[in-house]
Amino acid sequence: MNSHLDLDSRKAAQRVGLTSDTIVIRGGKPLNGRIEVRGAKNLVTKAMVAALLADTPSILKGVPEISDVHVVKGLLEAHGVVVDELMPGELRLDPSNVSSAHFAEINAHAGSSRIPILFCGPLLHQLGEAFIPDLGGCRIGDRPIDFHLNALRALGAVVEKLDDGIHLTAPDGLIGANIELPFPSVGATEQVLLSAVRAEGTTELKNAAIEPEIMDLIAILQKMGAIISVEPNRVIVIEGVQKLRGYVHTAIFDRNEAASWASAALATHGDITVGGAKQQELMTFLNVYRKVGGEFEVLEDGIRFYHPGTPLKPVMVETDVHPGFMTDWQQPLIVALTQAEGTSVVHETVYENRFGFTDALNTMGADITVHQSGIASITRRVPRRPLEQAAVVTGPTHLTGADVRVPDLRGGFSHLIAALAAEGTSTISNVGIISRGYELFIDKLEQLGADFELV
Ligand code: EPZ
Repeated sequence: MNSHLDLDSRKAAQRVGLTSDTIVIRGGKPLNGRIEVRGAKNLVTKAMVAALLADTPSILKGVPEISDVHVVKGLLEAHGVVVDELMPGELRLDPSNVSSAHFAEINAHAGSSRIPILFCGPLLHQLGEAFIPDLGGCRIGDRPIDFHLNALRALGAVVEKLDDGIHLTAPDGLIGANIELPFPSVGATEQVLLSAVRAEGTTELKNAAIEPEIMDLIAILQKMGAIISVEPNRVIVIEGVQKLRGYVHTAIFDRNEAASWASAALATHGDITVGGAKQQELMTFLNVYRKVGGEFEVLEDGIRFYHPGTPLKPVMVETDVHPGFMTDWQQPLIVALTQAEGTSVVHETVYENRFGFTDALNTMGADITVHQSGIASITRRVPRRPLEQAAVVTGPTHLTGADVRVPDLRGGFSHLIAALAAEGTSTISNVGIISRGYELFIDKLEQLGADFELV
């Protein structure tokens, strides 16, 4: 049906050594135990790109064994960067011999990833040009790159659209500029950071994203020799420097993975300690978790999440940019909300198509209705956005096993949780997609006592 997705999934599975792309789960058993989370997918991949900006090698620690890391490794190698694994989870990235790569070569490695767009700034600094193929990524909306290209143009890049991608040059080098993003986009903020850091002069970025992963990227750039100030009201000021050196850095933990396992504990009546999770970066999630009726205990080296045995409660949630409730947290949480007593409403305000995964949950017995234009009458904290949708989740519902297909990364993890919570057997195909962002999830399921097999 969707051969692109199937192929992406198979490739992702292969990259991390998964023997199969389909899992059979016998659900209805609580997940109990401890698992560890390492560096965040949404930082590690960008930190690897940042190494391109230096003239000496960088060392990145806490690198998870996920497919997206392999994708970026391949992309860097295609551009002449030597990437060595010093030990599990520790990469040395040597940019001494950066060279150009063409569309076909980049495409061969990029797969469905959107990371190539972030190569623009570093390649313009190192080589004076960049080729970027048409981009993929999870199919959760249009996911355009207009903010990226407009920011690059403001910094002096010349963007030429070709049949199979775009070609960028910077005849006069990149030059600092005043840029205001139409929306605090994570990727576009990273684009400006990675491009302006070695530009001539100062760049002022307004309406910037301030996610913890962005702050960690700024910390890395500062280690490399950059001068970047984060000012009030989403303003970031970057004073360009001529040269940057390599960094040594341990990546921030994966908040999205931690929140996903937390929701899995709730949905399966389980008790999961997520080693490596930290409270500060999860405060918004923890507030919602508590409102739903989930319990948590902040430990020295992680957070324990558990179902207290009393009925879960419905909530109203709107996804938002940081410090709001992340769009990547709603999918696993919705599975837990199918078990709450009453009606929950989840508004998705960041992407325009991120409730596709709910169809499979309904097949399993959930009662979820998606309103494509949101629900105007509901009083909320986040202002309405034209692209938003709402999911109305009525519970509790009895989930039963079904055959489902992973549509995207976070939606796929929610299918996994639903199958684990459901009575009976589920077969989930395309689980390779889940390995794009969930490290060793098969091993972790085993550690938590899940009953399953790869087939
Ligand atoms: C990052 O995507 C993450 N991906 C996403 O995680 C995450 O959901 C998202 O940030 C929001 O936090 C990575 O870090 C690799 P955006 P990104 O630019 O940077 C619109 C996951 O599952 N937009 O903040 O691509 C866009 O369409 C993934 O881990 C434009 O209109 O997200 C969206 O509506 C999925 N034009 C909004 O901005 C542009 O040029 C936010 O996107 C760029 C974005």
